Amino acid sequence: QPLVGLVGWRGMVGSVLMDRMQAEGDFGLIEPVFFSTSNAGGKAPAQAKNETTLKDAFDIEALKKCDIVITAQGGDYTTEVFPKLRAAGWTGHWIDAASTLRMKDDAVIILDPVNMPVIKNALQKGGRNWIGGNCTVSCMLMGVGALYKAGLVEWMSSMTYQAASGGGAQHMRELLTQFGTLNAEVRALLDDPKSAILEIDRKILARQQSLSGDEVANFGVPLGGSLIPWIDKDLGNGVSREEWKAGAETNKIMGNAQPIPVDGFCVRVGTMRCHSQALTFKLKKDVPVADIEAMIAADNPWAKVIPNTKEATLAGLTPVAVTGTLDIPVGRIRKLAMGPEYVGAYTIGDQLLWGAAEPLRRMLRILLD
Ligand code: HSE
Repeated sequence: QPLVGLVGWRGMVGSVLMDRMQAEGDFGLIEPVFFSTSNAGGKAPAQAKNETTLKDAFDIEALKKCDIVITAQGGDYTTEVFPKLRAAGWTGHWIDAASTLRMKDDAVIILDPVNMPVIKNALQKGGRNWIGGNCTVSCMLMGVGALYKAGLVEWMSSMTYQAASGGGAQHMRELLTQFGTLNAEVRALLDDPKSAILEIDRKILARQQSLSGDEVANFGVPLGGSLIPWIDKDLGNGVSREEWKAGAETNKIMGNAQPIPVDGFCVRVGTMRCHSQALTFKLKKDVPVADIEAMIAADNPWAKVIPNTKEATLAGLTPVAVTGTLDIPVGRIRKLAMGPEYVGAYTIGDQLLWGAAEPLRRMLRILLD
């Protein structure tokens, strides 16, 4: 069985990855070697077979023995270790959740239900670097990739509602702590049905504006009861790095020789781990809504069309309905007032599953085939 090194398996994305690998029987097909950046020599998790001790994740010689390395350790680790490992002559397959290598020419952004031809083509040409896409982009393409595959998209604008988990585990804790702090501030007033809502609102605002230090250490400003219309770095041209990724990665994933304009705003909201997005398409021609729905529904087993009614939307098109599932619901599909080629849609995905862990383990399976 191939030797598969696992790095960053204890973090949030890594833990979701481990659960999914366990659920799909992936460990039955590999000889896992567990690496650690902080606890080399410790005991490997239960999935270990012959190698039950944790290896040092910075030990290039130990990594070199692996046929495949899967890392969810993060970008700093990739930046430090990947070049050394390749420089040491390692020719194995590197599967990585971090964004570091995504846009390199010799790397493929993996999302096989959407871009299997791109993956297969790179494999044939000796490709060895397989990088998971930005979570928002991956979830979006799992939902509406059918329209791109059919060559129907002239341009797309995506307005996102991104969950706290995209920042990391500490960000999720910070959000929930803020909710608790705000609730505690007005609990007595909430318990009194006769209290004045504007008094509650004043107290909440005052507490939000006084949140400081540890209370906002991760997001920088309050997210509980607020939102943050900027994600990732400031590229200095008015565009956030998260917004830049939408176009750059969508086109790379699809292998478009002629890039399709994809742009919009990325917004952090106070949800836990599902990224949602409102999409506007300009299609190259007038396609009936029923045809669009049929294409999306038939594209892959996870994309699910949600009928564009209030009842179906509330039942199936919320982060609470989707979290923890691999489903990518696409709803609110309708023609927009601008004209028959303009189509709106709304889609949601668990950013830890299709947005991070799932494409990695599926790439492993493709390599094992
Ligand atoms: N950049 C994403 C976010 C994380 O902050 O939501 C996953 O790519």
